[in-house]
Amino acid sequence: MRNIIIDCDPGHDDAIALLVALANPEKLNVLAVTTIGGNQTIEKVTKNAKNILAYVNANVPLAIGQEGPLVKPLNTAPEAHGDTGMDGPYFKDNNYPIVSDNAVLYMYQTIMAQEGRVTLVGLGPLTNIALLLKTFPEVKSKIEMISIMGGGIRRGNMTATAEFNIYVDPEAAKIVFSSGVQVVMSGLDVTEKAYVTLDEIESLQNRGEVHTLVYELLKFYNESGKQFGFVDSPIHDLCAICYLLDPTMFTGKRYHVDVVTDDCMTRGMTIADRRLKPAQVENVLVLEDIDREAYVHSLFQALARLDNI
Ligand code: BDR
Ligand code: CA
Repeated sequence: MRNIIIDCDPGHDDAIALLVALANPEKLNVLAVTTIGGNQTIEKVTKNAKNILAYVNANVPLAIGQEGPLVKPLNTAPEAHGDTGMDGPYFKDNNYPIVSDNAVLYMYQTIMAQEGRVTLVGLGPLTNIALLLKTFPEVKSKIEMISIMGGGIRRGNMTATAEFNIYVDPEAAKIVFSSGVQVVMSGLDVTEKAYVTLDEIESLQNRGEVHTLVYELLKFYNESGKQFGFVDSPIHDLCAICYLLDPTMFTGKRYHVDVVTDDCMTRGMTIADRRLKPAQVENVLVLEDIDREAYVHSLFQALARLDNI
């Protein structure tokens, strides 16, 4: 069993990643969920996290993180995720509790209170995690791994070379990648292969409340994906959770990865040193391929568990 903290900006794919993590308590003990401004403002993504956690009657502490990046103003993604940041489903009002409005401090206290090491999962811009590592460097020895969705060593989605989460806060990503803590990167190289088809989405209908929630999330997400040229729907953030559930689903390679932080065309680009003799030690395991059938199976299995069918 692995203790994890999920830092996220829900976000359709963040929401699905949260659900799958919660459906596997024998493998993943979710110590906390923390939010970060990204797909939408911190108020909106926190409301979305509350809605998801309340929907499945979760009992996981929720803490509010940073409004925006370390240096630049926040760049949100309403084109992909809608005005709420998680358009599609309707949620009833709920009183899901917020345990702290200082996610960085809450993460620190939670990690230090554990006997063993904790795995961090970063599903949005890496601002909270970078602040944690910079403010409390003693925490590093208590972090087993940081499993992130972000980047890509072949191309981007926000720009030709930069993926959204890294593009929003490249300075934070640079701090995380150079921290010395083991980073596993589910970048676009693998996450765009981690898709569900429209037929698979349609098959979620009339199977239970959580299936319906994910159906409504994915219907919106599939529709919005069309403007970017997608027919199928990559559930990017779920890769960072599935790697923890079953790393054999993935193949990848360790590289030295750095991030472009200059104000230039390639700001936010993640560059892997792919030379035969790289100048610096490998700091990131870059996931590059996935067994898509196993991925979709783990999603469907998680939903069946949550709906008790
Ligand atoms: C990433 O950007 C966000 O829009 C998604 O939630 C995911 O974390 C994909 O580039
Ligand atoms: Ca996300």
